[in-house]
Amino acid sequence: MILQPNDEAIARAVGALRAGGLVAFPTETVYGLGASASDAAAVGAVFLRKGRPASNPLIVHVDGVDMAQSVVADWPARAGALAAGFWPGPLTLVLAKGPHVPPAVTAGGETVAVRAPDHPVALALIRALGGPLVAPSANPSGAVSPTTAGHVEADFPDLLILDGGPCRTGIESTVLDLTGPPRVLRQGVISADAIAAALGEPVAEGATPGPARSPGLAGSHYAPRAPLRLVAPEAGPEPEGTARVVLPDSATEAAARLYAALREADVEDATAIWVQAPTPEQLAGPEGGLWRAILDRLQRAAERKAES
Ligand code: TXA
Ligand code: MG
Repeated sequence: MILQPNDEAIARAVGALRAGGLVAFPTETVYGLGASASDAAAVGAVFLRKGRPASNPLIVHVDGVDMAQSVVADWPARAGALAAGFWPGPLTLVLAKGPHVPPAVTAGGETVAVRAPDHPVALALIRALGGPLVAPSANPSGAVSPTTAGHVEADFPDLLILDGGPCRTGIESTVLDLTGPPRVLRQGVISADAIAAALGEPVAEGATPGPARSPGLAGSHYAPRAPLRLVAPEAGPEPEGTARVVLPDSATEAAARLYAALREADVEDATAIWVQAPTPEQLAGPEGGLWRAILDRLQRAAERKAES
């Protein structure tokens, strides 16, 4: 059920969360499937509802630095600098986990991912609950993330959904590991360069060799039902039944449109989806960081269907 996010709806959502229920809410990136982070059973229900592997940890959403400090073991100077520069906003920090975070949140690991979302409805919900919310993107595991309340309802018709309108940013937050030298584990709107500038030190990018550091980044993700292929602008004509997606020329607009465009192309009789990939010029240009984050999502979406 989609609710306009007035005081009454927020109170109702808080009641559901306190009773161990799930609530979908808007953030600036994508809609989240929220549960109280301190309620281990509710956190377990999030994994079940999404069909998410228990090995893939969740992001803890907070209203600011004080609440973030309540879920970590240690708040390093780098975290303070980045929170001051980018919170509330689409930057998730991976830090040593505090003792009160249920193991299910972190998939049994010793680190916790935390961010303050830049959306008034998300912040109002966290404040009214008086504690942090775990929230993965509100889509079945592996499928396309939702950027409108309608997208969430299409996947989870019986869920309580707070409607905050279309998400402004449109792709998920940058995930930054701060448990060692800073390393971007998932690209997003906030680029490694912007983080490096704020910290005054280099920032690495990509998963480290060895065991996966960000399990959700391994393998496929973000995939529509129909097989997706990345094509060059000059490719074509596309075969019958193939939907072609052309993204806006601005990376900011392309990110905001990306998931809605994939969902619109993924209609019942579509046999394939062709997406025009960002061009080498775009990837090397002033918006290159964001184009690379978009390309990363598209490549993962394409990968899944190539494998299955
Ligand atoms: O923008 C976003 O981050 C959205 C909105 C709802 O906030 N959330 C989101 O959650 O994208 P999800 O669950 O779809 O993706 C979380 C990513 C996954 O790749 C997961 O593996 C990684 O963050 N992650 C979570 N906890 C981690 C940890 N302790 N260490 C490393 N990676 C972690
Ligand atoms: Mg997701």
